[in-house]
Amino acid sequence: MDFHIPVLSTETIDLLNVQPDKIYVDGTLGHGGHTLEILKKGGLVYGIDQDPQNLEIATNRIKEAGFKNHFFPVHNNFNELENIVTNQIKQKIDGLIIDLGLSQNQQTGQGRGFSFNDESSLDMRLDPENQELTAEEIINTYDYDELFEIFSKYAQEIYSKPIVLRIISERQKSPIKTATRLANIIRDFYKDRHIRSKIDPSTKIFMALRIIVNDEFENLKKLLIQSLNVVKKDGKVCIITFHSGEDRIVKLFLNQNPLCQAEKSVKASFEEIKKNPLSRSATLRSYRIV
Ligand SMILES: C[S@@+](CC[C@H](N)C(=O)[O-])C[C@H]1O[C@@H](n2cnc3c(N)ncnc32)[C@H](O)[C@@H]1O
Repeated sequence: MDFHIPVLSTETIDLLNVQPDKIYVDGTLGHGGHTLEILKKGGLVYGIDQDPQNLEIATNRIKEAGFKNHFFPVHNNFNELENIVTNQIKQKIDGLIIDLGLSQNQQTGQGRGFSFNDESSLDMRLDPENQELTAEEIINTYDYDELFEIFSKYAQEIYSKPIVLRIISERQKSPIKTATRLANIIRDFYKDRHIRSKIDPSTKIFMALRIIVNDEFENLKKLLIQSLNVVKKDGKVCIITFHSGEDRIVKLFLNQNPLCQAEKSVKASFEEIKKNPLSRSATLRSYRIV
Protein backbone atom coordinates (compact mmCIF):
# COMPACT_ATOMS: atom_id res chain seq x y z
CA MET A 1 0.00 0.00 0.00
CA ASP A 2 1.01 3.66 -0.33
CA PHE A 3 1.98 4.88 3.10
CA HIS A 4 1.32 8.42 4.27
CA ILE A 5 4.33 10.67 3.54
CA PRO A 6 5.46 12.28 6.80
CA VAL A 7 5.92 16.06 6.63
CA LEU A 8 8.90 17.99 8.02
CA SER A 9 10.36 14.64 9.08
CA THR A 10 14.08 15.55 9.13
CA GLU A 11 13.40 18.83 10.93
CA THR A 12 11.16 17.14 13.53
CA ILE A 13 13.60 14.32 14.30
CA ASP A 14 16.50 16.81 14.59
CA LEU A 15 14.50 19.02 16.98
CA LEU A 16 13.50 16.00 19.11
CA ASN A 17 17.21 15.22 19.50
CA VAL A 18 16.50 11.47 19.56
CA GLN A 19 18.90 9.41 21.71
CA PRO A 20 19.17 5.60 21.88
CA ASP A 21 16.98 3.90 24.53
CA LYS A 22 15.18 7.13 25.44
CA ILE A 23 11.38 7.05 25.48
CA TYR A 24 9.25 8.96 22.97
CA VAL A 25 5.52 9.23 22.41
CA ASP A 26 4.15 9.68 18.90
CA GLY A 27 0.62 10.88 19.69
CA THR A 28 -0.51 10.71 16.04
CA LEU A 29 1.08 7.50 14.82
CA GLY A 30 -0.69 7.44 11.42
CA HIS A 31 1.37 5.10 9.24
CA GLY A 32 4.39 5.42 11.52
CA GLY A 33 6.48 7.65 9.22
CA HIS A 34 7.88 9.82 12.04
CA THR A 35 7.99 6.88 14.46
CA LEU A 36 10.19 4.84 12.10
CA GLU A 37 12.74 7.66 12.02
CA ILE A 38 12.85 7.70 15.85
CA LEU A 39 13.20 3.91 15.92
CA LYS A 40 16.07 4.03 13.40
CA LYS A 41 17.93 6.28 15.82
CA GLY A 42 17.48 3.75 18.64
CA GLY A 43 14.61 5.40 20.51
CA LEU A 44 11.70 3.49 22.09
CA VAL A 45 8.29 4.64 20.85
CA TYR A 46 4.77 4.46 22.26
CA GLY A 47 2.59 5.19 19.22
CA ILE A 48 -0.93 6.45 19.90
CA ASP A 49 -3.69 6.55 17.31
CA GLN A 50 -7.43 6.89 17.63
CA ASP A 51 -8.01 5.19 14.30
CA PRO A 52 -7.80 1.39 14.68
CA GLN A 53 -7.13 0.94 10.94
CA ASN A 54 -4.07 3.20 10.99
CA LEU A 55 -2.81 1.66 14.22
CA GLU A 56 -2.84 -1.76 12.54
CA ILE A 57 -1.19 -0.48 9.35
CA ALA A 58 1.63 1.19 11.34
CA THR A 59 2.12 -1.77 13.69
CA ASN A 60 2.54 -4.19 10.75
CA ARG A 61 4.84 -1.78 8.94
CA ILE A 62 7.05 -1.32 12.00
CA LYS A 63 7.14 -5.07 12.62
CA GLU A 64 8.22 -5.70 9.03
CA ALA A 65 10.93 -3.06 9.40
CA GLY A 66 12.33 -5.09 12.34
CA PHE A 67 11.58 -2.68 15.20
CA LYS A 68 8.86 -4.70 16.95
CA ASN A 69 10.70 -4.82 20.28
CA HIS A 70 11.12 -1.06 20.53
CA PHE A 71 7.55 -0.13 19.64
CA PHE A 72 4.34 -0.15 21.70
CA PRO A 73 1.02 0.59 19.92
CA VAL A 74 -1.69 2.36 21.92
CA HIS A 75 -5.27 2.64 20.69
CA ASN A 76 -6.43 5.83 22.34
CA ASN A 77 -7.02 9.54 21.97
CA PHE A 78 -3.93 11.66 22.65
CA ASN A 79 -6.07 13.70 25.03
CA GLU A 80 -5.46 10.75 27.42
CA LEU A 81 -1.69 11.28 27.28
CA GLU A 82 -1.21 11.77 31.00
CA ASN A 83 -3.13 8.57 31.84
CA ILE A 84 -1.17 6.61 29.24
CA VAL A 85 2.17 7.84 30.59
CA THR A 86 1.19 7.27 34.22
CA ASN A 87 -0.46 3.87 33.85
CA GLN A 88 1.29 2.30 30.88
CA ILE A 89 4.72 3.88 30.47
CA LYS A 90 5.10 4.50 34.22
CA GLN A 91 7.84 7.10 33.85
CA LYS A 92 8.21 10.55 32.33
CA ILE A 93 9.06 10.61 28.63
CA ASP A 94 11.98 12.20 26.77
CA GLY A 95 10.05 13.59 23.84
CA LEU A 96 6.64 13.95 22.23
CA ILE A 97 5.55 14.42 18.65
CA ILE A 98 2.11 15.36 17.37
CA ASP A 99 1.41 15.57 13.62
CA LEU A 100 -2.17 16.80 13.38
CA GLY A 101 -4.69 16.29 10.62
CA LEU A 102 -5.49 13.23 8.58
CA SER A 103 -3.32 10.64 6.89
CA GLN A 104 -3.62 10.35 3.12
CA ASN A 105 -5.70 7.14 3.26
CA GLN A 106 -8.16 8.79 5.68
CA GLN A 107 -8.45 11.85 3.42
CA THR A 108 -9.13 9.93 0.24
CA GLY A 109 -10.65 6.59 1.34
CA GLN A 110 -14.23 5.48 0.73
CA GLY A 111 -16.48 4.81 3.71
CA ARG A 112 -14.89 7.39 6.06
CA GLY A 113 -16.73 10.48 4.85
CA PHE A 114 -13.70 12.82 4.74
CA SER A 115 -13.34 12.89 0.96
CA PHE A 116 -15.60 14.88 -1.40
CA ASN A 117 -15.62 11.75 -3.57
CA ASP A 118 -16.98 9.48 -0.85
CA GLU A 119 -20.26 8.22 -2.21
CA SER A 120 -21.02 5.89 0.68
CA SER A 121 -20.52 7.91 3.86
CA LEU A 122 -20.64 11.23 5.68
CA ASP A 123 -19.17 9.86 8.90
CA MET A 124 -15.86 11.66 9.66
CA ARG A 125 -15.20 9.89 12.99
CA LEU A 126 -11.56 8.93 13.52
CA ASP A 127 -12.59 6.19 15.93
CA PRO A 128 -16.03 4.88 14.92
CA GLU A 129 -16.04 2.33 17.79
CA ASN A 130 -15.72 4.91 20.53
CA GLN A 131 -17.24 8.10 19.12
CA GLU A 132 -20.95 8.70 18.58
CA LEU A 133 -21.45 12.00 16.79
CA THR A 134 -21.04 11.86 12.99
CA ALA A 135 -20.99 14.61 10.37
CA GLU A 136 -24.13 13.00 8.93
CA GLU A 137 -25.95 13.58 12.21
CA ILE A 138 -24.78 17.21 12.37
CA ILE A 139 -25.84 17.95 8.79
CA ASN A 140 -29.24 16.26 9.09
CA THR A 141 -30.31 17.16 12.63
CA TYR A 142 -28.67 20.41 13.76
CA ASP A 143 -30.91 23.45 13.52
CA TYR A 144 -30.17 26.64 11.56
CA ASP A 145 -28.37 28.42 14.44
CA GLU A 146 -26.14 25.44 15.23
CA LEU A 147 -25.10 24.92 11.60
CA PHE A 148 -24.62 28.66 11.12
CA GLU A 149 -22.27 28.77 14.10
CA ILE A 150 -20.15 25.87 12.81
CA PHE A 151 -19.92 27.27 9.28
CA SER A 152 -19.19 30.85 10.31
CA LYS A 153 -16.95 30.23 13.34
CA TYR A 154 -14.97 27.16 12.31
CA ALA A 155 -15.09 27.38 8.50
CA GLN A 156 -15.18 31.18 8.34
CA GLU A 157 -17.55 30.73 5.40
CA ILE A 158 -18.90 34.15 4.43
CA TYR A 159 -21.92 32.57 2.72
CA SER A 160 -22.88 30.55 5.81
CA LYS A 161 -26.47 31.79 5.92
CA PRO A 162 -27.55 30.87 2.35
CA ILE A 163 -25.56 27.63 2.43
CA VAL A 164 -27.23 26.51 5.68
CA LEU A 165 -30.63 27.38 4.21
CA ARG A 166 -29.85 25.34 1.11
CA ILE A 167 -28.71 22.35 3.20
CA ILE A 168 -31.91 22.52 5.26
CA SER A 169 -34.02 22.63 2.09
CA GLU A 170 -32.10 19.68 0.57
CA ARG A 171 -32.33 17.53 3.68
CA GLN A 172 -36.11 18.04 3.70
CA LYS A 173 -36.21 16.30 0.30
CA SER A 174 -34.15 13.36 1.59
CA PRO A 175 -31.45 12.89 4.27
CA ILE A 176 -27.94 13.88 3.17
CA LYS A 177 -26.01 10.65 3.63
CA THR A 178 -22.84 11.03 1.58
CA ALA A 179 -19.89 13.40 1.42
CA THR A 180 -20.37 13.70 -2.35
CA ARG A 181 -23.94 14.94 -1.99
CA LEU A 182 -22.95 17.52 0.64
CA ALA A 183 -20.00 18.71 -1.46
CA ASN A 184 -22.28 19.05 -4.51
CA ILE A 185 -24.86 21.09 -2.57
CA ILE A 186 -22.13 23.57 -1.55
CA ARG A 187 -20.55 23.60 -5.04
CA ASP A 188 -23.95 24.15 -6.69
CA PHE A 189 -24.60 27.12 -4.41
CA TYR A 190 -21.31 28.72 -5.55
CA LYS A 191 -22.05 27.87 -9.20
CA ASP A 192 -25.61 29.24 -9.12
CA ARG A 193 -24.37 32.51 -7.61
CA HIS A 194 -21.42 32.67 -10.08
CA ILE A 195 -18.97 32.88 -7.17
CA ARG A 196 -15.42 31.90 -8.00
CA SER A 197 -13.27 30.03 -5.51
CA LYS A 198 -9.58 29.08 -5.80
CA ILE A 199 -10.11 25.90 -3.81
CA ASP A 200 -13.07 23.50 -3.88
CA PRO A 201 -15.87 25.53 -2.22
CA SER A 202 -16.68 22.68 0.18
CA THR A 203 -13.13 22.44 1.62
CA LYS A 204 -13.67 24.81 4.56
CA ILE A 205 -17.01 23.33 5.60
CA PHE A 206 -15.64 19.79 5.46
CA MET A 207 -12.71 20.85 7.65
CA ALA A 208 -15.07 22.51 10.17
CA LEU A 209 -17.26 19.39 10.38
CA ARG A 210 -14.17 17.22 10.98
CA ILE A 211 -13.02 19.57 13.76
CA ILE A 212 -16.39 19.33 15.51
CA VAL A 213 -16.91 15.58 15.04
CA ASN A 214 -13.46 14.80 16.46
CA ASP A 215 -13.31 17.65 19.00
CA GLU A 216 -9.95 18.55 17.52
CA PHE A 217 -9.33 21.93 19.18
CA GLU A 218 -10.23 20.69 22.66
CA ASN A 219 -8.04 17.59 22.27
CA LEU A 220 -5.10 19.77 21.29
CA LYS A 221 -5.59 22.10 24.28
CA LYS A 222 -5.74 19.13 26.67
CA LEU A 223 -2.64 17.56 25.12
CA LEU A 224 -0.60 20.76 25.42
CA ILE A 225 -1.39 21.17 29.13
CA GLN A 226 -0.65 17.49 29.83
CA SER A 227 2.70 17.72 28.02
CA LEU A 228 3.97 19.88 30.90
CA ASN A 229 3.39 17.01 33.37
CA VAL A 230 4.64 14.05 31.33
CA VAL A 231 7.73 15.24 29.48
CA LYS A 232 11.00 15.30 31.47
CA LYS A 233 12.82 18.53 32.17
CA ASP A 234 14.82 19.40 29.02
CA GLY A 235 12.65 17.00 26.99
CA LYS A 236 11.31 18.25 23.69
CA VAL A 237 7.82 18.53 22.20
CA CYS A 238 7.17 18.96 18.45
CA ILE A 239 3.71 19.89 17.16
CA ILE A 240 2.90 20.01 13.44
CA THR A 241 -0.30 21.87 12.54
CA PHE A 242 -2.06 22.33 9.19
CA HIS A 243 -4.65 24.93 10.06
CA SER A 244 -4.43 28.51 11.37
CA GLY A 245 -6.92 27.68 14.19
CA GLU A 246 -4.69 24.88 15.49
CA ASP A 247 -1.51 26.92 15.15
CA ARG A 248 -3.12 29.77 17.10
CA ILE A 249 -3.87 27.37 19.98
CA VAL A 250 -0.24 26.22 20.11
CA LYS A 251 1.12 29.79 19.85
CA LEU A 252 -1.16 31.05 22.62
CA PHE A 253 -0.21 28.14 24.87
CA LEU A 254 3.50 28.84 24.35
CA ASN A 255 3.04 32.55 25.06
CA GLN A 256 1.20 31.82 28.30
CA ASN A 257 3.41 29.06 29.73
CA PRO A 258 6.73 29.94 31.29
CA LEU A 259 7.47 26.20 31.69
CA CYS A 260 7.98 25.93 27.92
CA GLN A 261 10.89 27.39 26.06
CA ALA A 262 9.56 27.90 22.55
CA GLU A 263 11.79 27.60 19.52
CA LYS A 264 11.44 29.26 16.13
CA SER A 265 8.62 27.82 14.02
CA VAL A 266 9.56 25.86 10.89
CA LYS A 267 7.83 25.60 7.48
CA ALA A 268 8.41 23.03 4.74
CA SER A 269 11.19 23.81 2.26
CA PHE A 270 10.51 24.53 -1.40
CA GLU A 271 11.91 21.07 -2.26
CA GLU A 272 9.59 19.31 0.19
CA ILE A 273 6.53 21.23 -1.06
CA LYS A 274 7.45 20.25 -4.63
CA LYS A 275 7.61 16.56 -3.67
CA ASN A 276 4.64 16.63 -1.27
CA PRO A 277 2.25 19.58 -1.87
CA LEU A 278 0.32 18.72 1.33
CA SER A 279 3.32 19.99 3.32
CA ARG A 280 2.62 23.55 2.10
CA SER A 281 0.27 24.34 4.97
CA ALA A 282 2.32 22.61 7.71
CA THR A 283 3.84 24.59 10.60
CA LEU A 284 6.17 22.88 13.06
CA ARG A 285 6.41 24.42 16.53
CA SER A 286 8.72 22.93 19.13
CA TYR A 287 9.40 23.63 22.78
CA ARG A 288 11.66 22.46 25.55
CA ILE A 289 10.31 21.75 29.03
CA VAL A 290 12.27 23.91 31.49
C1 LIG B 1 -1.30 13.27 9.75
S1 LIG B 1 -1.56 11.69 10.40
C2 LIG B 1 -0.01 11.29 11.13
C3 LIG B 1 0.96 10.73 10.14
C4 LIG B 1 2.22 10.16 10.77
N1 LIG B 1 3.03 11.19 11.39
C5 LIG B 1 3.02 9.42 9.72
O1 LIG B 1 4.14 9.82 9.44
O2 LIG B 1 2.52 8.43 9.18
C6 LIG B 1 -2.52 11.98 11.82
C7 LIG B 1 -2.93 10.73 12.57
O3 LIG B 1 -3.32 11.11 13.87
C8 LIG B 1 -4.49 10.45 14.25
N2 LIG B 1 -5.17 11.34 15.21
C9 LIG B 1 -5.73 12.54 14.96
N3 LIG B 1 -6.22 13.06 16.11
C10 LIG B 1 -5.93 12.16 17.09
C11 LIG B 1 -6.17 12.13 18.49
N4 LIG B 1 -6.80 13.11 19.12
N5 LIG B 1 -5.72 11.07 19.20
C12 LIG B 1 -5.08 10.04 18.58
N6 LIG B 1 -4.84 10.01 17.24
C13 LIG B 1 -5.26 11.06 16.52
C14 LIG B 1 -5.24 10.21 12.96
O4 LIG B 1 -6.09 9.10 13.08
C15 LIG B 1 -4.09 9.97 11.97
O5 LIG B 1 -3.80 8.62 11.88
